[in-house]
Amino acid sequence: MKKVTYNGLTFKPFISSQQIAQRIEEIAADITRKYSGRNPLIVCVLNGAFPFAADLFRALDCDAEIAFVRLSSYAGTESTGEVRQVVGLTDPVEGRPVIVVEDIIDTGRTMEKFLADLRRMNPSDVEVATLLFKPESLKADIKPDYVGFTIPPAFIIGFGLDLDGKARNLKDIYVLDDEANA
Ligand code: IMP
Ligand code: MG
Repeated sequence: MKKVTYNGLTFKPFISSQQIAQRIEEIAADITRKYSGRNPLIVCVLNGAFPFAADLFRALDCDAEIAFVRLSSYAGTESTGEVRQVVGLTDPVEGRPVIVVEDIIDTGRTMEKFLADLRRMNPSDVEVATLLFKPESLKADIKPDYVGFTIPPAFIIGFGLDLDGKARNLKDIYVLDDEANA
């Protein structure tokens, strides 16, 4: 794996597509075991979580449905702290188990805000699956139930994660290369 450059910033390889695929299979097996016979609604948080949600959803070996919401809080490499629901959840949620699927939990504010909205819709259960988790950046009172990889608070791209809309299509995950950008 080679380094990549976007918007003049250099990123180095961090998590390979093979590692990602392996971890998604493990999480899918956990969810399948827990939700067999319960038909969970998988809620994919657009845009970043779509590759993770697609792979996770296909790896589930139980009945499940999928829905999409779009939230937005980032500009460039910094969280703006303001969370907007650009596309809301329209599927019936009342009385059903819901698993929210995110690409990354950083400050946790996006998830905290969305979970508050979601709970008002009276699901029977809410769990959170995130591909990446930066616990050192966490500023909200939330705890993901399924975590792909726990990572330090560095800026990353690839496998759905973007830099101003770019790099989502990278198969592997890359981290900002501080030495190359110094
Ligand atoms: P939070 O509200 O700070 O937890 O931010 C969550 C959202 O910010 C995620 O859904 C991502 O879209 C974006 N985000 C957080 N960290 C990164 C990163 O390292 N790279 C790209 N996007 C990120
Ligand atoms: Mg996101």
